Amino acid sequence: MINNETVAQGKYYIGLMSGTSADGIDLALVDFTANGQQPRLVASFYKSYSAKIADKITSLYQPGSNEIDRAFHLDVELAQLFSQAVNVLLNQENLTPKDIIAIGNHGQTIRHRPTGDTPYTLQIGCCQTLATLTGIRVVGQFRRKDMALGGQGAPLVPAFHQLLFAHAVEANFVVNVGGIANITFLPEQGADKAVLGFDTGPGNALLDDWFTKHHSSSDDTFDKNGAWAITGQVIPLLLNQLMQDDYINSAAPKSTGREYFHLQWLEQQLTAFKEETSSQHDLVIDQVNETVLNAVDIQATLLAFTAQSISDAISALTPQGKVYLCGGGVHNSALVEALKSRLNTSDAAFEINTMQALNIDGDILEAMAFSWLAYAFDQGLDSNLPAVTGASASCTLGSTFFP
Ligand SMILES: Nc1ncnc2c1ncn2[C@@H]1O[C@H](COP(=O)(O)OP(=O)(O)O)[C@@H](O)[C@H]1O
Ligand SMILES: [Mg+2]
Repeated sequence: MINNETVAQGKYYIGLMSGTSADGIDLALVDFTANGQQPRLVASFYKSYSAKIADKITSLYQPGSNEIDRAFHLDVELAQLFSQAVNVLLNQENLTPKDIIAIGNHGQTIRHRPTGDTPYTLQIGCCQTLATLTGIRVVGQFRRKDMALGGQGAPLVPAFHQLLFAHAVEANFVVNVGGIANITFLPEQGADKAVLGFDTGPGNALLDDWFTKHHSSSDDTFDKNGAWAITGQVIPLLLNQLMQDDYINSAAPKSTGREYFHLQWLEQQLTAFKEETSSQHDLVIDQVNETVLNAVDIQATLLAFTAQSISDAISALTPQGKVYLCGGGVHNSALVEALKSRLNTSDAAFEINTMQALNIDGDILEAMAFSWLAYAFDQGLDSNLPAVTGASASCTLGSTFFP
């Protein structure tokens, strides 16, 4: 906890998120005093990354040459971009740094390896540089203490979702479709079940990667509304194979990242698929051969894979409830339709809405969660959920950096 004199200055927190899609910076200006401890979103700001910055980020998702120099130059460069974005938000709202109690900085994950003997996670976008450039105290490095306590350090948003849904009378899910997709299960009040949350697998990551690989002359960095995917046919046998992936079938607590779900992962899957199906050619000739296994059908199958891995994770927890979608994947109407059709069957009856149905901007929810993590740090509140991350204890997450 930080001493009261420091916290007393200012009025708002800023949450800063840069997700694994490497699309840009989300900022949420949040007031925690207006409405009990319920957060009130005052304003938001989004700044997309240039293609060059996005490329610098994504090229660090997997091992490569000269990583330390590239990562730590980018650590500072991102902090400079973060501080520019914060200044635009302050100008936009006629505020000065003194109006801000602290920035909760998630930063940019470039590597997340939460399992094994020496697990680690690395977020860049230097908190100290950000504090010095903005003149605002920064709280960051939220994932480390949870990991030091044996947890996965992820996902961290479920505790914030729990706060938002504190009085829910029925089972609710929050599904965040970013580069990676994560779900939070919020049991109805009095149900005597723990809040759960985990990464289900890829969200938009593989869709973005496969789209850009096949549209290299386009400026688009994603398949807008799934328009390309819906012109293809799902390849059921390939979908079945993708669904056999070890991560998808592992038990929670679990979290993943783009060091796992990337283009090479997909290409290995396609190679294995071709080998398998060519050895059984007479069985599958209608579904699979070189002419049918074309790029657009693979995109359709990836979209189905994202939808299926999310919907299976949800329906394994409970057969009915309300599902609220957020994150950039919500704008992919084909993906939303694919989710709806999987969650409304004879075995599963879920009501599916976007966060907008609760008057919450789903594009800014994660950034709001990081403003809350800064607030929780200042208040000395526990902000991890051991049932979610697997940590041995609850704790206050984060470290603080003064200007
Ligand atoms: N209109 C759209 N159609 C399809 N996909 C979209 C659309 N708008 C956003 N997206 C997807 O959302 C992603 C950004 O989502 P975001 O929640 O910011 O993810 P992250 O948290 O990983 O940064 C983009 O990379 C893209 O894949
Ligand atoms: Mg993003």
